[in-house]
Amino acid sequence: MCGIVGYIGHRDAYPIIIKGLQRLEYRGYDSAGIALYDGTDINLSKTKGKVDDLKNKSESSISLKGSLGIGHTRWATHGIPNDINSHPHYSNSGDLVIIHNGIIENYEAIKKELTTRGYTFESDTDTEVLVNLIEEVKNKEEVKLGKAVQIALNQVIGAYAIAVFDKQKPDEIVVAKLGSPLAIGIGKDEFFVASDASPFIEFTNNAVYLEDEEMAIIRLGKEIKLRKIKDDSIAYPLVQELQMNLEEIEKGGYDHFMLKEIYEQPRAIKDTYRGRLRAAQGIIKMAGVDENLEKFLNANRIIIVACGTSWHAGLVAEYIFEDLARIPVEVEYASEFRYRNPVITDKDVLIAISQSGETADTLAAIKLAKERGAFVFGVCNVVGSSIARETHAGAYTHAGPEIGVASTKAFTTQITVLTLLALKLAKEKGEFSESKFHEFLSELENIPSKVQTTLASNPLVEVIAQAYKDSDNCLYLGRGYNFPVALEGALKLKEISYIHAEGYPAAEMKHGPIALIDDQMPVIVIAPKKGHYEKVVSNIQEIKSRKGKIIAIVTAGDRQVTDLADHVIEVPETIESLSPLLTTIPLQLLSYHIAVMRGCNVDQPRNLAKSVTVE
Ligand code: G6P
Repeated sequence: MCGIVGYIGHRDAYPIIIKGLQRLEYRGYDSAGIALYDGTDINLSKTKGKVDDLKNKSESSISLKGSLGIGHTRWATHGIPNDINSHPHYSNSGDLVIIHNGIIENYEAIKKELTTRGYTFESDTDTEVLVNLIEEVKNKEEVKLGKAVQIALNQVIGAYAIAVFDKQKPDEIVVAKLGSPLAIGIGKDEFFVASDASPFIEFTNNAVYLEDEEMAIIRLGKEIKLRKIKDDSIAYPLVQELQMNLEEIEKGGYDHFMLKEIYEQPRAIKDTYRGRLRAAQGIIKMAGVDENLEKFLNANRIIIVACGTSWHAGLVAEYIFEDLARIPVEVEYASEFRYRNPVITDKDVLIAISQSGETADTLAAIKLAKERGAFVFGVCNVVGSSIARETHAGAYTHAGPEIGVASTKAFTTQITVLTLLALKLAKEKGEFSESKFHEFLSELENIPSKVQTTLASNPLVEVIAQAYKDSDNCLYLGRGYNFPVALEGALKLKEISYIHAEGYPAAEMKHGPIALIDDQMPVIVIAPKKGHYEKVVSNIQEIKSRKGKIIAIVTAGDRQVTDLADHVIEVPETIESLSPLLTTIPLQLLSYHIAVMRGCNVDQPRNLAKSVTVE
């Protein structure tokens, strides 16, 4: 929930760290800070607010010299967002400086103990406790920083990705990881540390991703040394070549990452099925599935766990798996599943869906399912992420980096991967005739161009947004495959425009939400031609007779709903189970425009973070 960056080498650390923090701001943005070390003095600057605020403050108040530095962008867990609670934090001697992403759960007990030994604390954070614990161990045991970090971390309970340096050691940074991500970029005579590779992508393609319970002593002029935190044994760093490029993490002419990512969907969906879908030969190849086909075919049921938008993709997948492959599916919020003693057997397949691959609750659900014998399959976007590593097998979505906090292309690419999986299983189980299978495969290949066509409704959506931008509430209705799309549409609107919105199955409206409908209430109805169309038409009539305003998502050429609705946005015709890939696009655009018109920070909505690595 925070972003960390560090640099040690021959360049000025300041611009690298500031730019890196800007790229990591999606991870948290309520406060930020930086510490630079020029070999003589440590210069530290921190502030409540964004990285831009930190930049303004630092440039007018501290020396920016130094080729060793660490920086942090925060999403508060312990202590309100203010200057003092921002990272980095000093130890009492002023020699050690730390940044931390995660939570130290037993910090109060440690703080009490340190206080009795004379330590004092400026902030309310768990992190300041940790850096002083490291200092206490270092002094008491008379050990070097690396050893002190290792001993101290064995005393803490919680999650962390930390970077810490010692004023006495101007050529060294020590990093460690448990539960929160940490990558080390390896350049020529220089090293980078970050929560993901985006801060150093223009400097090096070589990176080491720390595993949980690993730490590294990064020393200039030396090879990286990895150690296991538990027993101090040596681990060997696996240097990976990065796939990300700079262009992918920049806005490329769009005003916001969210808009760029909405527009990337035709390409992203194609990248998701590229190499997997061979429509002409009637083949779907997915290595992680092919190698474990029996597990899927013999499964009693599939359990899907996820959070947020990924959970909505899971709900769409439930319809797809049950409808096409005839496998029973349960979809669970990871946070509920992990705490409710679920019945899991070795005949269950658990599918974990996560854009970031780092969501703490989803990770915990995976661990629980593994302990109880289930086969666990991951659907992640971030290559090499914790969930990708923790699962038995999986399929990447290949959407490319998603920076906007509101998830867009992750959702459609997750649905694409899960559709491929369901189609493959349907075929293997004999649920599909050859011709039906072919029809599906070739229609899936048509989806990117149909998404492109749908994107052409953008100017119309902008006009509709203008009419409803001042609404206080909004209702989203859909049935069948498009019920989860209604939920996702409502989530998009509330997270970036702060308008209260609810998604409902259209038929459930009369069991409650209909009471809310008056001439001020916009109701977005997803009403494609296939999928209970007539029933949805009746629901629209119910809303109209109560003077509600209807914005309908319809199939191109629609007549009936078009006559009833106040506004219609057309999507091309497709197979019912693929329709969420199209109907969701106008809803993303609608939220985007409303949020822009309301002056909201679209890419970094208040109180949210892209990657939720706390429970
Ligand atoms: C956060 C993000 C959402 C995302 C959810 C799950 O709440 O703001 O956009 O859907 O986490 O994240 P994941 O990375 O597991 O898909």
